[in-house]
Amino acid sequence: MTTTSPIRLPALAEHSALWEGRARNVLTWRRPFLQGVNWSDPPFATWFADGELNVSENCLDRHVAAGIGDRIAIYWEGEPGDRVQFTYRELLAEVCRAANAFATLGIGKGDRVVIYLPLIPEAIIAMLACARIGAIHSVVFAGFSPQSLRARVDDAGAKLVITADGGIRKGKVTPLKGAVDEALTEAQSVEHVLVVQRTSGERGERLNLETGSAWMPEGVGWRPGRDMWWHEVLDAESSVHEPEAFAAETPLFILYTSGTTGAPKGIVHTSAGYLTQAVFTHSTVFDLRPESDVYWCTADVGWITGHSYVVYGPLANGATQVIYEGAPDTPHHARWWELVERYRVSIFYTAPTAIRTFMRLGRQLADPYDLSSLRVLGSVGEPINPEAWEWFRDNVGGGGTPVIDTWWQTETGAVMAAPGVHQEVFKPGSVQHPVSGVHLSVVRDDGTPTAHDEIGFLVAELPWPSMARGIWGDPDRFVDTYWSRFPGRYFTGDSALVDSDGDLWLRGRVDDVMNVAGHRLSTAEIEATLGAHPYVAESAVVGAFDEKSGQAVVAFVVLKDSQRAAAGEDAHAVTVLRTWVRDQIGAIASPRQILVVPDLPKTRSGKIMRRLLRNAAEDRPVGDVTTLSDTSIMAVISARLAAGHTED
Ligand code: WT7
Repeated sequence: MTTTSPIRLPALAEHSALWEGRARNVLTWRRPFLQGVNWSDPPFATWFADGELNVSENCLDRHVAAGIGDRIAIYWEGEPGDRVQFTYRELLAEVCRAANAFATLGIGKGDRVVIYLPLIPEAIIAMLACARIGAIHSVVFAGFSPQSLRARVDDAGAKLVITADGGIRKGKVTPLKGAVDEALTEAQSVEHVLVVQRTSGERGERLNLETGSAWMPEGVGWRPGRDMWWHEVLDAESSVHEPEAFAAETPLFILYTSGTTGAPKGIVHTSAGYLTQAVFTHSTVFDLRPESDVYWCTADVGWITGHSYVVYGPLANGATQVIYEGAPDTPHHARWWELVERYRVSIFYTAPTAIRTFMRLGRQLADPYDLSSLRVLGSVGEPINPEAWEWFRDNVGGGGTPVIDTWWQTETGAVMAAPGVHQEVFKPGSVQHPVSGVHLSVVRDDGTPTAHDEIGFLVAELPWPSMARGIWGDPDRFVDTYWSRFPGRYFTGDSALVDSDGDLWLRGRVDDVMNVAGHRLSTAEIEATLGAHPYVAESAVVGAFDEKSGQAVVAFVVLKDSQRAAAGEDAHAVTVLRTWVRDQIGAIASPRQILVVPDLPKTRSGKIMRRLLRNAAEDRPVGDVTTLSDTSIMAVISARLAAGHTED
């Protein structure tokens, strides 16, 4: 085997110069920068640090000034079918109102604002209004539980929380304000809660929702002084707001993501470097033509994809985009194709899980719809299997569209690897190569390059503009997690290989992080949650292969002897624990399978062998059990799993 030659890295000055040129090109600066990257204190990089700009001005004002204020920025459609559209001029006016309102509420530079909203225009308006006044937003996906919300509000020390009366998903109303009330306590940092009307009031009435389940203002929990209606507060404000210039490294947002421990990490991104790479990649990776394209990324703004490729990238590029609030199958299974046809979507960016779902439902679903406007398709979040890649191209893209598989992470801020959109030939399942200006390699445990086709660890070699600047409040964890395993290099947590053509293939996580339907979950966090339930003595959680969601959560639990009577039948305990995990973390963490077992496979020193459990859960030979303190336990667990399968 030949080794993949160590990649040739440019000198730091040359690397910096490439991105400096792009930063000048793609952004509007209030004060031009002279400095490029500063890498004198790794792993804490700065980019363009002496420059100044306003991120919201880059997303809005400059387009109006350039004469494209009447271009549609957002075609928004709610799940029940209600529609709103915003030109860049209209979006700017709303963002100005919100920025003025936040300032009136005492929010200023560096203050943290938690946004806990459905995918409605106000979520984007709130994010941009924070950026406009130098406040730091932290969007918490509205599917997270009150407990998860509370942990994030506390960690960030948020002064303002923005939520809605309710969210609409699969035809049902979830009481978001109720969740916020449950999450917030007297002692917290939060001074105000702004509540967007989505399911009650006039907006809700028009939707004919079953408002019985929606939280209503007359109900419990409206705290006068703290709680205010978004529309009332904004109505009182001017739609003009002068954007202030902020230093390039001003924090833009914190986004919490799961790690290998029970506590989520607040990934910190700053302004100019982040925006440079988000804008540059959004334009080049998808071959964006802002004058004629209609772009649609299906991600929620609660995830990094929504930050970089729904909000900051597309808006700073002056793109026209579609945003859809609801589930792909509501009210019918071809909802997405209906939207592609209605808005003549030309660039469509989604996740493999969704593609596989449509594959199962079948091509005929799309038949009644005209999808001929599509010219570029994108995929993100997890490895896309070649069958799904081809199905996507042939059945959604009509056979001729490129499918751009993009690899990146919350921590990388923007796309790091993707095939070129103008390539003649693609390799389904491979992300192929880093984007220009990014340097990735695949290395062995000792840091040396792997051979062709040999699986190793994926690392990034030089600082890049949109890299995370740290973990909120925990610089040591940032260093430990990403920069200590391979000194001087960023460790991604992913395994990968480089084939004999030099193309890159992702091979899944190497740590205890799961990827369920493109969402990151931590085994440790779910174990900690299970362990906090009175029934549970101990538990082990693994991510097991799942045809639909890529991976699914499988939990093995040992019940406390003292609780056996209370827990009742195993089936009852399983139901209780599944609900518990859902309530504590959110529906996305809900295990596909919970198995009550007499014990967990442990080494003599007490370490749980999750690898054996994963093998069993994936129906593979369990492997070597001789190092276990009880060598018979895996046979018992496998037998229970097999019994579970026949019950299904
Ligand atoms: C992890 C990052 C980036 C936005 C969505 C997820 C996996 C992501 C791909 C891809 C194979 C991928 C990796 C990565 N991942 N994209 N194209 N091919 N794996 O963001 O929650 O930060 O998760 O998702 O394992 O480390 P995230």
